[in-house]
Amino acid sequence: MVEKYQFLGVEAIIASLRMRELFQQVRKAAQSSSSILLLGESGTGKEIIARAIHHDSVRKMKPFVDLSCAALPKELVESELSGHERGAFSGANATRHGLFELAHEGSLFLDDIGALDPKLQAKLLRVLDTGMFFRLGAVKQTRADIRIIAASDRPLIQSVRNGIFRQDLYERIGQITLTIPPLRERAEDIEALANHFLAQQNPELRFASDAIMALYSYHWPGNVRELRNTVFRSSLAAKGPLLHADDILFRLRTLQSPENQAEARGVEGLEQTMIRRALEDSGGHRQRTAESLGISRTSLSRKIRSYGLSVKTELHRRPA
Ligand SMILES: Nc1ncnc2c1ncn2[C@@H]1O[C@H](COP(=O)(O)OP(=O)(O)O)[C@@H](O)[C@H]1O
Ligand SMILES: [Mg+2]
Repeated sequence: MVEKYQFLGVEAIIASLRMRELFQQVRKAAQSSSSILLLGESGTGKEIIARAIHHDSVRKMKPFVDLSCAALPKELVESELSGHERGAFSGANATRHGLFELAHEGSLFLDDIGALDPKLQAKLLRVLDTGMFFRLGAVKQTRADIRIIAASDRPLIQSVRNGIFRQDLYERIGQITLTIPPLRERAEDIEALANHFLAQQNPELRFASDAIMALYSYHWPGNVRELRNTVFRSSLAAKGPLLHADDILFRLRTLQSPENQAEARGVEGLEQTMIRRALEDSGGHRQRTAESLGISRTSLSRKIRSYGLSVKTELHRRPA
């Protein structure tokens, strides 16, 4: 049985027993007022679940605001979250509301929480404890009643043990922890998700049974995100209405071994591989891709053009 949930412009497909059980926990957690920590490998659906939580909560009519703590340098994360007063630094010509304020009475989704700088960890803890914070350059505090939904690809407890993440903040945001299983541990979801993504991309296409077998036998290290990208990529190359196993374009067939490719094609080959991977990892988001590669957005775009990397950004569109 395949269930579909629609909320906030997102459609979640749930077929496996494990995900059905998880969604029961999600709904229960959503009703409570406490912070929630979502753990799971990249691409398992943490963001989609964060949206589901907001949508099922009493805060649903208020904003859902999200920020990846890993996508920006720490100074920018701070000003994104806190906003600033006019004149707080050169170039601050007007007061700017940060995400703490924008998420007031709503939910703030902090992705990659483990990357949060220690100073900001302290600031976040204060917001949670007191409901108050300072905009950059402010002498007066501003109120922010927010629910934190945090996510991490890696077990946050390890960062606590390594002294990188504050224990008290961990206890605070991890009051409820939900772990999303990798796709390979819930194979029943594979077919339902694949059919869903294929229908989204091109309703004329179908998977032949050998294609479904091929999808089942793959281990999906990039989880649902990789499945989605694989289905979209394969559907674009489809030679007819029925997709066979041969038509499934798994990423690893071309990208598994960047070293070998680099040997074959030199430094440029490696660069291409890195760009394609980074694009996949960021879901096609060029700004984030450029940041993760440490190059400017302009230079990323130039490289994409010059290598003729056909990046179908519309395929990676983030849910609204
Ligand atoms: N159960 C699901 N049903 C439909 N799409 C899903 C599901 N889980 C994940 N996705 C899709 O897979 C991609 C990755 O999900 P995301 O929530 O961003 O993962 P994470 O935050 O764990 O990296 C997104 O495009 C998302 O919409
Ligand atoms: Mg994510």
